[in-house]
Amino acid sequence: MTITRNLRVAVIGAGPAGQAHAFGFRNARMSDALSDVEIVLDTIVDPDTVLAQTVARRYGFARVAADVSQILDSGIDAVSVALPSSLSVPVLGSLLEAGKHVIGEKPLGRSGAEAAELVEIARATDRVAAVGFSYRRIPAVAQLQETVADGAIGDPLFARGHFFSDYALDPASPMTWRFDQEASGGGTILDMATHVIDALEFVLGGVEEVGACILDTTIAQRPTRDGSMAAVTNDDTALIDLRFAGGAIASVLSSRVGAGCPIELGLEIFGTRGHARYRFDRPNEWVLYQRDVGEEGTDAPRTIIPGPAARYFADTMPMAARGNATGYGEAFVAQMQTFLKAVVDGTPMDTSFEVAARTMRVIDAALASARERRPVAVTTPSEN
Ligand SMILES: NC(=O)c1ccc[n+]([C@@H]2O[C@H](COP(=O)([O-])OP(=O)(O)OC[C@H]3O[C@@H](n4cnc5c(N)ncnc54)[C@H](O)[C@@H]3O)[C@@H](O)[C@H]2O)c1
Repeated sequence: MTITRNLRVAVIGAGPAGQAHAFGFRNARMSDALSDVEIVLDTIVDPDTVLAQTVARRYGFARVAADVSQILDSGIDAVSVALPSSLSVPVLGSLLEAGKHVIGEKPLGRSGAEAAELVEIARATDRVAAVGFSYRRIPAVAQLQETVADGAIGDPLFARGHFFSDYALDPASPMTWRFDQEASGGGTILDMATHVIDALEFVLGGVEEVGACILDTTIAQRPTRDGSMAAVTNDDTALIDLRFAGGAIASVLSSRVGAGCPIELGLEIFGTRGHARYRFDRPNEWVLYQRDVGEEGTDAPRTIIPGPAARYFADTMPMAARGNATGYGEAFVAQMQTFLKAVVDGTPMDTSFEVAARTMRVIDAALASARERRPVAVTTPSEN
């Protein structure tokens, strides 16, 4: 295939998420849809230049920079951003204004208002402005969504989603921006429940109301680098009840103090004719139950193992045979492939700023519900 265009890419923030982005960009050329595009791995940006250099070497990027300003006037076309949430508006905003295509991380800023600000900035450009809800790109999750959308479980009635991690269980684990309300906008509710809410909205459509929300903080103080203690000012655990515009109801539980669960996202959707379930600790499979399939009395949930027929599978797997397991890494490859394809085609990405802003309005409603102890409707943009 002849190369018809170059796309120079950069990653801003060389922490764990930025490294996943770099991995995604490095492997994005596996997609046939990008076979005429030369993806040039250009710059890793992080003030920790030792880390930036390590990440650049590991993923094959040509250079490093200490500050975003160093790439604004460069010939870089597309930039991924994986930073603390407080930097979303200034960094994503300045990149868009400099004419870059951007993909940020969830959450899109710290609040619905910050997300709306970014939506406005993006609307004033013709650039792709997207957010990486990586769990949508896992072939099993994408296949579950398509199957439910095709009516395999009938009309969705109720759902349950969870995201458990134990990264904050150790009280000696130091204070970071994640534990500070001002810097983060929210604890596990923004860090983890956003993934679950996005996945549920992916399958069930938009949320119209938060029925209730309870936030809980288990570890009230954490040690700082200078040895003093700092107050944790956001939630370790969040429990949220949702009503979707399509009629289904759901419960979301997320926690960063989930002993024994390093990372576990789960989805369960029950409909009038069956159910579908997914759990990230078995990332390449999902369960489908259909009450009208099979002989009477022998109906049972079936484990579905995705293969090349599932979305994202063939473009992300080194050996694209059914049974070989896709998971976290493949999701980031698919995420960057989808982003770069949108850049090439000049079309919005499915996880646009608008979609991410909708999740942020659900979070705003949940935070208001927790504060005021009452149901709160999710606003539409015109009501903001
Ligand atoms: N999709 C996922 O599965 C997933 C997983 C983890 C994190 N995330 C999201 O990714 C984002 C980053 O998370 P993380 O865990 O990598 O955070 P982190 O705090 O571990 O890393 C952030 C990095 O950004 C760097 N940085 C800070 N200010 C900067 C600046 N002005 N310019 C460039 N670099 C700067 C820091 O030095 C650090 O290396 C968060 O929004 C988080 O919610 C998503």
